[in-house]
Amino acid sequence: MLNDTLTTVSILVLHGPNLNLLGLREPDIYGSVTLDKINQLLEEEGKQLEVKVCALQSNHEGVLVDAVHDALGKHQGILINPAAYTHTSVAIRDALAAVALPVVEVHLSNVYQREAFRHHSFIAPIAVGQISGFGEESYRLGLHALVHHLRK
Ligand code: DQA
Repeated sequence: MLNDTLTTVSILVLHGPNLNLLGLREPDIYGSVTLDKINQLLEEEGKQLEVKVCALQSNHEGVLVDAVHDALGKHQGILINPAAYTHTSVAIRDALAAVALPVVEVHLSNVYQREAFRHHSFIAPIAVGQISGFGEESYRLGLHALVHHLRK
Protein backbone atom coordinates (compact mmCIF):
# COMPACT_ATOMS: atom_id res chain seq x y z
CA MET A 1 0.00 0.00 0.00
CA LEU A 2 2.79 2.40 1.02
CA ASN A 3 4.75 1.40 -2.07
CA ASP A 4 1.70 2.04 -4.29
CA THR A 5 1.36 5.54 -2.88
CA LEU A 6 5.04 6.26 -3.41
CA THR A 7 4.99 5.13 -7.02
CA THR A 8 1.74 6.81 -8.13
CA VAL A 9 2.39 8.79 -11.28
CA SER A 10 1.45 12.46 -10.95
CA ILE A 11 0.59 14.67 -13.93
CA LEU A 12 0.65 18.46 -13.82
CA VAL A 13 -2.01 20.04 -16.02
CA LEU A 14 -1.32 23.66 -16.96
CA HIS A 15 -3.88 25.95 -18.56
CA GLY A 16 -2.69 29.24 -20.01
CA PRO A 17 -4.26 32.69 -20.32
CA ASN A 18 -7.98 33.28 -20.88
CA LEU A 19 -8.85 29.63 -20.39
CA ASN A 20 -10.50 30.62 -17.09
CA LEU A 21 -13.18 32.17 -19.33
CA LEU A 22 -14.06 28.92 -21.10
CA GLY A 23 -17.82 28.59 -21.33
CA LEU A 24 -18.19 32.33 -21.95
CA ARG A 25 -15.30 32.88 -24.30
CA GLU A 26 -15.97 32.62 -28.07
CA PRO A 27 -18.19 29.51 -27.68
CA ASP A 28 -18.32 29.07 -31.46
CA ILE A 29 -14.58 28.31 -31.30
CA TYR A 30 -14.05 26.85 -27.83
CA GLY A 31 -17.45 25.32 -27.09
CA SER A 32 -19.50 25.79 -23.94
CA VAL A 33 -17.52 23.61 -21.57
CA THR A 34 -16.05 25.37 -18.51
CA LEU A 35 -12.52 24.94 -17.18
CA ASP A 36 -13.91 23.42 -13.96
CA LYS A 37 -15.66 20.79 -16.05
CA ILE A 38 -12.44 20.01 -17.96
CA ASN A 39 -10.53 19.65 -14.69
CA GLN A 40 -13.26 17.39 -13.33
CA LEU A 41 -13.11 15.28 -16.50
CA LEU A 42 -9.33 14.98 -16.16
CA GLU A 43 -9.55 14.00 -12.53
CA GLU A 44 -12.07 11.27 -13.36
CA GLU A 45 -9.94 10.08 -16.26
CA GLY A 46 -6.91 10.14 -13.98
CA LYS A 47 -8.68 7.76 -11.60
CA GLN A 48 -9.37 5.36 -14.48
CA LEU A 49 -5.72 5.55 -15.50
CA GLU A 50 -4.54 5.36 -11.87
CA VAL A 51 -2.60 8.61 -12.01
CA LYS A 52 -2.84 11.73 -9.90
CA VAL A 53 -3.86 14.91 -11.76
CA CYS A 54 -3.05 18.41 -10.43
CA ALA A 55 -4.38 21.36 -12.43
CA LEU A 56 -3.40 25.03 -12.46
CA GLN A 57 -4.60 27.91 -14.64
CA SER A 58 -2.83 31.24 -14.88
CA ASN A 59 -3.01 34.35 -17.03
CA HIS A 60 0.62 35.14 -16.16
CA GLU A 61 3.63 33.77 -17.99
CA GLY A 62 5.92 33.87 -14.93
CA VAL A 63 3.42 31.92 -12.81
CA LEU A 64 3.37 29.19 -15.47
CA VAL A 65 7.20 29.20 -15.63
CA ASP A 66 7.36 28.85 -11.81
CA ALA A 67 4.82 26.01 -11.92
CA VAL A 68 6.97 24.17 -14.48
CA HIS A 69 10.05 24.58 -12.24
CA ASP A 70 8.07 23.38 -9.19
CA ALA A 71 7.02 20.26 -11.08
CA LEU A 72 10.51 18.79 -10.69
CA GLY A 73 10.41 16.02 -8.12
CA LYS A 74 6.62 16.28 -7.76
CA HIS A 75 5.22 15.32 -11.15
CA GLN A 76 6.33 12.90 -13.83
CA GLY A 77 4.74 14.61 -16.83
CA ILE A 78 3.10 17.86 -17.94
CA LEU A 79 -0.09 18.25 -19.96
CA ILE A 80 -0.27 21.85 -21.14
CA ASN A 81 -2.61 24.09 -23.06
CA PRO A 82 -0.36 27.14 -23.22
CA ALA A 83 -3.18 29.07 -24.99
CA ALA A 84 -1.84 32.31 -26.52
CA TYR A 85 1.60 31.66 -24.97
CA THR A 86 1.91 28.73 -27.38
CA HIS A 87 2.67 31.24 -30.10
CA THR A 88 4.82 33.70 -28.13
CA SER A 89 6.56 32.21 -25.11
CA VAL A 90 10.21 31.28 -25.33
CA ALA A 91 10.22 31.44 -21.50
CA ILE A 92 7.67 28.64 -21.09
CA ARG A 93 9.40 26.54 -23.73
CA ASP A 94 12.79 27.04 -22.02
CA ALA A 95 11.30 26.13 -18.61
CA LEU A 96 9.82 22.92 -20.06
CA ALA A 97 13.12 22.09 -21.75
CA ALA A 98 15.01 22.83 -18.51
CA VAL A 99 13.01 20.43 -16.32
CA ALA A 100 13.03 17.87 -19.15
CA LEU A 101 9.74 16.23 -18.08
CA PRO A 102 7.65 14.67 -20.87
CA VAL A 103 5.18 17.26 -22.19
CA VAL A 104 2.01 16.87 -24.23
CA GLU A 105 0.58 20.06 -25.75
CA VAL A 106 -3.18 20.32 -26.26
CA HIS A 107 -5.55 22.78 -27.87
CA LEU A 108 -9.34 22.83 -27.87
CA SER A 109 -9.53 24.35 -31.34
CA ASN A 110 -7.71 23.18 -34.45
CA VAL A 111 -5.08 25.91 -34.48
CA TYR A 112 -4.07 24.98 -38.06
CA GLN A 113 -7.51 25.91 -39.38
CA ARG A 114 -7.23 29.35 -37.82
CA GLU A 115 -5.13 32.52 -38.28
CA ALA A 116 -1.55 32.00 -39.52
CA PHE A 117 -0.07 33.33 -36.26
CA ARG A 118 -1.56 30.32 -34.48
CA HIS A 119 0.22 27.85 -36.76
CA HIS A 120 3.53 28.23 -34.97
CA SER A 121 4.10 26.69 -31.56
CA PHE A 122 7.21 27.38 -29.47
CA ILE A 123 6.27 24.36 -27.34
CA ALA A 124 5.69 21.66 -29.97
CA PRO A 125 9.38 21.05 -30.80
CA ILE A 126 10.13 20.08 -27.18
CA ALA A 127 6.87 18.17 -26.62
CA VAL A 128 6.29 14.44 -27.02
CA GLY A 129 3.34 15.43 -29.20
CA GLN A 130 0.46 17.80 -29.78
CA ILE A 131 -3.32 17.28 -29.94
CA SER A 132 -5.43 20.03 -31.47
CA GLY A 133 -9.05 20.42 -32.50
CA PHE A 134 -11.12 18.03 -30.40
CA GLY A 135 -12.54 20.45 -27.84
CA GLU A 136 -12.36 19.12 -24.27
CA GLU A 137 -11.63 15.69 -25.74
CA SER A 138 -8.15 17.05 -26.68
CA TYR A 139 -7.34 17.08 -22.96
CA ARG A 140 -8.59 13.53 -22.39
CA LEU A 141 -6.66 12.25 -25.40
CA GLY A 142 -3.61 14.22 -24.26
CA LEU A 143 -3.74 12.69 -20.78
CA HIS A 144 -3.97 9.20 -22.28
CA ALA A 145 -1.08 9.91 -24.66
CA LEU A 146 1.11 11.24 -21.84
CA VAL A 147 0.38 8.31 -19.50
CA HIS A 148 0.95 5.87 -22.36
CA HIS A 149 4.28 7.55 -23.09
CA LEU A 150 5.32 7.39 -19.41
CA ARG A 151 4.42 3.70 -19.13
CA LYS A 152 5.88 2.42 -22.36
C1 DQA B 1 -5.99 27.57 -27.74
C2 DQA B 1 -5.57 28.11 -29.10
C3 DQA B 1 -4.73 29.35 -28.98
O1 DQA B 1 -4.36 29.84 -30.27
C4 DQA B 1 -5.50 30.45 -28.26
O2 DQA B 1 -4.70 31.58 -28.06
C5 DQA B 1 -6.11 29.98 -27.00
C6 DQA B 1 -6.68 28.64 -26.91
C7 DQA B 1 -6.94 26.36 -27.85
O3 DQA B 1 -7.08 25.65 -26.86
O4 DQA B 1 -7.57 26.16 -28.90
O5 DQA B 1 -6.24 30.74 -26.04
O6 DQA B 1 -4.82 27.13 -27.06
